[in-house]
Amino acid sequence: MYRDYLLGELNLDNVGQEVTLSGWVDSIRDHGGLIFVDLRDYSGKTQIVIHPEKESLARKLKPEFVIQIKGEVRKRSKESINPNIPTGEIEVELADVVVLNESLPLPFEIDDDSVGEVLKYKYRYLSLRNQSNYRRMKMRSNMMKVVKDFFHRNNFLEIDTPILTKSTPEGARDFLVPSRMNEGKFYALPQSPQLFKQLLMIGGIDRYFQVCKCFRDEDLRADRQPEFLQIDAEMSFVSQRDVMNFSEELIKSILKNLINYEIGEVPVITYEDAMSRYGSDKPDISFGMLIKDISDIADDCGFKVFSDTVRGGGKVRGIVLNEDVSRKDIDMLTQEVAKFGAKGLAWIKMTAEGPSSVITKFFTQKELSNIVSRFDATVGDTLFFVADDEKVVCESLGHLRLKLADMYNLRNNEFNLLWVINFPMFEKVGNRYKAVHHPFTASTNGVSQAYDLVMNGSEIGGGSIRIHNIEEQLKVFDTLGISREEAEKQFPHLLNALRFGAPPHGGIAFGFSRILSMITEDESIRDVMPFPKTQRGVCLTTDAPSSVSTEDLTELGIRKIGKNNDKG
Ligand code: AMO
Ligand code: AMP
Repeated sequence: MYRDYLLGELNLDNVGQEVTLSGWVDSIRDHGGLIFVDLRDYSGKTQIVIHPEKESLARKLKPEFVIQIKGEVRKRSKESINPNIPTGEIEVELADVVVLNESLPLPFEIDDDSVGEVLKYKYRYLSLRNQSNYRRMKMRSNMMKVVKDFFHRNNFLEIDTPILTKSTPEGARDFLVPSRMNEGKFYALPQSPQLFKQLLMIGGIDRYFQVCKCFRDEDLRADRQPEFLQIDAEMSFVSQRDVMNFSEELIKSILKNLINYEIGEVPVITYEDAMSRYGSDKPDISFGMLIKDISDIADDCGFKVFSDTVRGGGKVRGIVLNEDVSRKDIDMLTQEVAKFGAKGLAWIKMTAEGPSSVITKFFTQKELSNIVSRFDATVGDTLFFVADDEKVVCESLGHLRLKLADMYNLRNNEFNLLWVINFPMFEKVGNRYKAVHHPFTASTNGVSQAYDLVMNGSEIGGGSIRIHNIEEQLKVFDTLGISREEAEKQFPHLLNALRFGAPPHGGIAFGFSRILSMITEDESIRDVMPFPKTQRGVCLTTDAPSSVSTEDLTELGIRKIGKNNDKG
């Protein structure tokens, strides 16, 4: 009734047909005599031409009005052909128009890709009318299908797990939901379906997957959201390598189906090597510039900053850049590494006359030539060094590496995947231990059986082989400072289940939008999410979170206290 064709469909084959079309008025151009209206829907645009005798009909139209038109498809004159759009060789000569709905003047132009976030998400329904955003949503839908097809093809059961549940620790704060029927008690929204998927394995499900919402109350960054989609999977009777192989197949399938991109073999690096060579547990291998250690050369040198550091148990490491960096930029970079605790940034420039720097005078010729050959440095290069304890050296050079890649455009244009394995089980925070992955991760000889999949320096997935033995699980809780009693109270479901014949199992979860935003080459995962939240966790479309009435709170047995009391 509303339309015979979509607005991206008509072509020369349709010339002469009487058609009914519906869509939004994209633009109105008055050429004095002829008026042109571009009519738009998700599929494209069709040009409507209005002759002077129909001018009164055109006067009714304004941008973003929803209209239905009738008219005849005509071939465009040679001069007016638009080779850039599929409908560019035809136009429809207007016979009649019905306004289906009007529109207020717009807060921004639909085609404006540079509209700020506040407007873009407040009027999300308008920014979604932009073709590039439609394409993002379409890509999202396609990716969902590819992922689900992949798992179904491989005999995984798609099983949904509760949203109103109990805390599942993944390192963030929980979002809590008060229970009206159980006053004073709260559900936690899942940080991940981790425990449920383990229970499914113990229930003999064998292969589970789900594309599910996870909730984490943490400080947000460009690649994080408080509510996000995970591609979550778990398998029984598998080794770490089995899960990794499977994951590679999944990513392969996504990239192949979405953008016809082939990935080769995925390299594997240990956590220790990742930290020492890239200064990061999620190395960006889209460029080289590996960190090298010169502590053995520096320990006896005349530059006190270096030799004292090495003698005090610290490290001296550096990177080489195939560029001549200005003093001004070196000062800026020194500030950058200072953010990670580095007390300075030593540098040497490779000139035609040899290594040159304010510090070269403190080194012997032999020491200098050893340093130069360690980095294979040649004329025109700049070497950078940080001397400090190992953590500071790794983190500051890791950051410097990324910063230089930004500044000098060093990255290749590929999807560079990398597995990071052999993470430590625990990290010390203050005087307590924290699980590096999560407390359900199995270990061999103190090294965890956890693995992260990294793409171009971004962690797109992470998983582990799980503990399936109750004693081992209790031991991990003990190390984390969680007493047996406390553990039985917090995780009764898991601990009981582990006592009833839990099979060996393991799994992984991927960040859906993170992967998608890398494929669409968007800067933020917000760009590929239909209704994302801001850095402050606000949904601009609905204005959530919002205050609730005192009556509603009372019904839940909750009374407001604290600093934001008067704001609600
Ligand atoms: P992990 O915490 O590593 O593992 O999460 C898995 C993947 O989810 C993505 N991700 C996020 N994406 C957007 N916003 C966030 N706030 C956010 N947090 C995480 C990342 C990450 O690699 N239960 C385990 C998985 C397992 O062991 O099987 C888990 O959740 O891409
Ligand atoms: P100074 O001796 O303080 O004048 O420093 C000489 C050079 O060494 C400067 O380029 C400093 O940035 C650099 N420098 C100072 N401390 C360190 C450090 N811990 N690691 C690397 N370079 C440093």
